[in-house]
Amino acid sequence: MSRLAGGVVLVTAQEPPLDPDGPGGEDAGMTATSFMSVSLDPPLVLVSVRTGSRMDDLLEEQPLWAVSVLAEGQRQIAGRFAMRGRLSDRLLFQDVPHRRGAITGAPLIDGSLATLECRTHQRVPTGDHTLVIGLVLETGLPHPEAAPLSYFRGRYRHLA
Ligand SMILES: Cc1cc2nc3c(=O)[nH]c(=O)nc-3n(C[C@H](O)[C@H](O)[C@H](O)COP(=O)(O)O)c2cc1C
Repeated sequence: MSRLAGGVVLVTAQEPPLDPDGPGGEDAGMTATSFMSVSLDPPLVLVSVRTGSRMDDLLEEQPLWAVSVLAEGQRQIAGRFAMRGRLSDRLLFQDVPHRRGAITGAPLIDGSLATLECRTHQRVPTGDHTLVIGLVLETGLPHPEAAPLSYFRGRYRHLA
């Protein structure tokens, strides 16, 4: 699979509020390459999330999440959100410019090529990962012409 070149996305979500009328909790993000389109009508996408990871735990209770398709200049962001045993989520997002998705409340990363806001349609536990299939509720193209961040043979690459 390391010979399959792919794009890199950041999957994000905000912890649901403790009190239904209260503010949302901390934001979380996970770097992923296992993101793909599944269906056009209805519009469905899929990401495979490692069972027991922070994002897996969060997406079990939070059906609303977002995806930012990272640009070539965002490899530091990708690296930061791929670390295990990391710092508090609050610190991770501190100096990463983003806005909040209008529908999901999830962080959408500034400077990304495209953004999608999703609601979980189906969860399929499979092996040591869970396939999280999302219905796309909203899309954005903040920087459609930017070069994509690519990943191939264990390294971030320039698309050439
Ligand atoms: C390029 C790249 C792609 C990744 N793709 C995935 C993925 O598709 N699914 C996944 O669960 N983890 C993926 N990871 C690993 C997660 O980013 C990482 O394990 C997670 O953010 C750490 O959180 P945790 O400590 O809760 O596991 C990827 C890492 C990198 C560097």
